[in-house]
Amino acid sequence: MARTKIAVYPGSFDPITNGHIDLVKRTLRVFDRVIVAIATNPDKDNSLFSVEERLQMIREVFKRLGRRVQADSFEGLLVDYAERIGAEVVIRGLRAISDFEYEFQMAMMNRGLNSNLETLFMMTGESYFYISSRLVKEVVSLGGNVSRLVPANVLKKLKEKFKD
Ligand code: PNS
Repeated sequence: MARTKIAVYPGSFDPITNGHIDLVKRTLRVFDRVIVAIATNPDKDNSLFSVEERLQMIREVFKRLGRRVQADSFEGLLVDYAERIGAEVVIRGLRAISDFEYEFQMAMMNRGLNSNLETLFMMTGESYFYISSRLVKEVVSLGGNVSRLVPANVLKKLKEKFKD
């Protein structure tokens, strides 16, 4: 029987956006299973949502897809986590050229740490080029409408966070 091909899609997902969702769907065309993995760092945490809240939002978004998309969190190095869960590939999204330098540095660092782990860059769908979790939070905090940029469950949670 063919081996299950697992990809890990790491990030902060604070919160998950339609851009991330688009990328997960693209990844499922190539891999059997995607683990959406929230990297946590208790010493440097300035996230809006707790890890539990972020996991819950991701699980709600992908629940129709069953076991092919799973949400998880990890502490420590991505390369160690990927090895633990049996992922051979790290997925990262590229929007603009400006993403490239940061992504290139991370991919090279990860390759230096574990040469068996490949990083695969996927192009975000053109409707999602300008979305980032950071900007989504800023716009909501200032009263702007982000309903085209995040799924309904995330929009609701964002509005709750900023209602005061
Ligand atoms: O969505 P982000 O915040 O750009 O994702 C960055 C992330 C989580 C992929 C990166 O910070 C990461 O891999 N963190 C885990 C710790 C680690 O392995 N650091 C070394 C990366 S070269």
